[in-house]
Amino acid sequence: MIRIAKPEEIGALIEIIRITFEKVSIDKSIEDHFGRLTGTPWINRKAVDIRRDLAQNPQGVFVKIVDNKIAGFITTVIDSEFSTGRIPHLAVLPEYQGKGIGKELLRHALQYIKDSGMKLMRIEVLAHNKGALKLYREFGFEEVSTQLHLAMPVSKYETLRPEGRSFSF
Ligand SMILES: CC(C)(COP(=O)(O)OP(=O)(O)OC[C@H]1O[C@@H](n2cnc3c(N)ncnc32)[C@H](O)[C@@H]1OP(=O)(O)O)[C@@H](O)C(=O)NCCC(=O)NCCS
Repeated sequence: MIRIAKPEEIGALIEIIRITFEKVSIDKSIEDHFGRLTGTPWINRKAVDIRRDLAQNPQGVFVKIVDNKIAGFITTVIDSEFSTGRIPHLAVLPEYQGKGIGKELLRHALQYIKDSGMKLMRIEVLAHNKGALKLYREFGFEEVSTQLHLAMPVSKYETLRPEGRSFSF
């Protein structure tokens, strides 16, 4: 069964993200690369994103229930000004992956966006996330652009010459 998420399920959704997004979180990649520079673990940053999705569009966050448990979820954001529905988060617990739940959640969310009267659907995916990319392509999404995420500790910036060349390394 797929149903709208309840506000009190926020903790379960964040836990699913903690388990499933380790390899597909930009904040986790930054943490792996530089250490915990900001003092805050990557999952706290993600928790803010999930809370924001729920606050922005509580009717557009859907959970898949299997054995009375949340097996996965998907969030949507409706931007009426630009007639666009976005899918910020999709995640299925590892023990439920490969059983069609991701597809089911995506189909549900895309139908919701269509029913909301939007003209465009958007999803962002990291290039190395081949499974998700394959899923989205199978649904008809087309690649329109590629973005690289760059980061640098402020302490490194302080060691740079004005022209941008580094003293150290
Ligand atoms: C991506 C994710 C949601 C897919 O959920 P799922 O329930 O395993 O997906 P399904 O069983 O419905 O599979 C749907 C399709 O996804 C693709 N896919 C999913 N995982 C895959 C993998 N590891 N390798 C290759 N293709 C994969 C396949 O095209 C598959 O269709 P097929 O079985 O007909 O080939 C899940 O793997 C997940 O939570 N991953 C971690 C979080 C994540 O990457 N989220 C998306 C961020 S953009």
